[in-house]
Amino acid sequence: MTNAVLRQSVLIRGGTVVDASGSRVADVLVGSDGMIEAVGEGLKGDLELDAGGCIVSPGFVDLHTHLREPGKEEAETIESGSRGGALGGFTALVAMPNTTPPMDCVGVVRDVIELGKTALTDIFPSAAITVGRAGEQLSPMAELAKLGVRIFTDDGTGVQDDLLMKRALEYSVGLAPFTGGASVVLAQHCEVAALSDGGFMHEGEWSSRLGIPGQPAEAEELMVMRDIALAKSTGARVHFQHMSTAGSVSLIRAAKAAGLPVTAEATTHHFTLTDAACASFDTVFKVHPPLRTDADVAAVKVGLADGTIDAIATDHAPHCAHDKEQPFDSAPPGMLGLETALALALTELDQPVEKVVGLLSWQAAKIAGIDDVHGCPIEPGRPANITVFDPAEAWTIDSSSFASKSTNCPYEGHNVKGRVRHTIVNGEPVVIDQEATR
Ligand code: DOR
Repeated sequence: MTNAVLRQSVLIRGGTVVDASGSRVADVLVGSDGMIEAVGEGLKGDLELDAGGCIVSPGFVDLHTHLREPGKEEAETIESGSRGGALGGFTALVAMPNTTPPMDCVGVVRDVIELGKTALTDIFPSAAITVGRAGEQLSPMAELAKLGVRIFTDDGTGVQDDLLMKRALEYSVGLAPFTGGASVVLAQHCEVAALSDGGFMHEGEWSSRLGIPGQPAEAEELMVMRDIALAKSTGARVHFQHMSTAGSVSLIRAAKAAGLPVTAEATTHHFTLTDAACASFDTVFKVHPPLRTDADVAAVKVGLADGTIDAIATDHAPHCAHDKEQPFDSAPPGMLGLETALALALTELDQPVEKVVGLLSWQAAKIAGIDDVHGCPIEPGRPANITVFDPAEAWTIDSSSFASKSTNCPYEGHNVKGRVRHTIVNGEPVVIDQEATR
């Protein structure tokens, strides 16, 4: 949150402003109250940040960050994760609830909110749909919604019980009295455990060759199908997390065409890497849902391009080296994402920068229900949550330079383009010239 010492006006000079309303060359003046004061030419401020050759966009919003606090602070903390997020251009992170203890009750979620107050980005806790993420009993969703939770998910696993999921969706529709009228969304990690348990990578040609038991595409697709049916019958909002198969993308496309209230995200790794990477037996490539085939990667890219998939999320999942240094079957799944997301999207998606920024910023903010504060148009009177990046800067990914406490990055040594230069959170420049300011 904002550091009072840095309360001075900030001028972002000479960039191209890109937001949901289009793009134009302009300076942006951020007032000492943390709000955008003016957008135009010839402005002056106490602190001037050079944005020459850069895009000045609404800050990025990650719908899917594992911050590991409480419980696994050795791998990441809210502080270190938010630092990585800010360096990656994010101004808001939605924290996943699979902590220890899990974020399934007011006490733990309140602790995360408190810890988030000194983070470098805004932190928005999600909360579990079921107690202990055990899939048996609903969490106190109304109390949690009253506390500010807008996304419920058992992420790490999907809710297996069809009736319980239906009840959760029905219940979510009636939460408006606890949120001041705002809607909440149930986000699903789509994975039918009966099909995926005992599998450690995508089930296909590579799993056969390598002798690693696989998780079939239909483990994801059956749950996507079920939840589309439940969204239809309950009228509740469903958000599909980390969509990874061509079949899932087709199902969501059809659901949207039918006018159902569904949204979806794709992670950077699901549009940049395939299951062939597992041939190295390097556990850095183990992730849930697993890396899929070339055809799946192509379908996810088409989904991002045609609006079927609304947002890019990171599923930033830090793990300690000693946990990842185990055989493929026993290592925990997950990979880092916050500090590489922008560059991977710009390098791999072949989409205009305006499109990429929408996927990272305002479209994600809308799903999280925080679009009054993040992802807003860059115009006077709006909160100054802003990312300045050079879309052309070439760099080589090196996880030893990351702010994350973990190094399980699958892109070591990859050459990419697009780098964050400055990040402004609620008016405070938390990153200047690629360095965190505190
Ligand atoms: O690969 C994953 N890692 N997928 C998940 O759903 C959970 C995450 C984690 O928490 O490490």
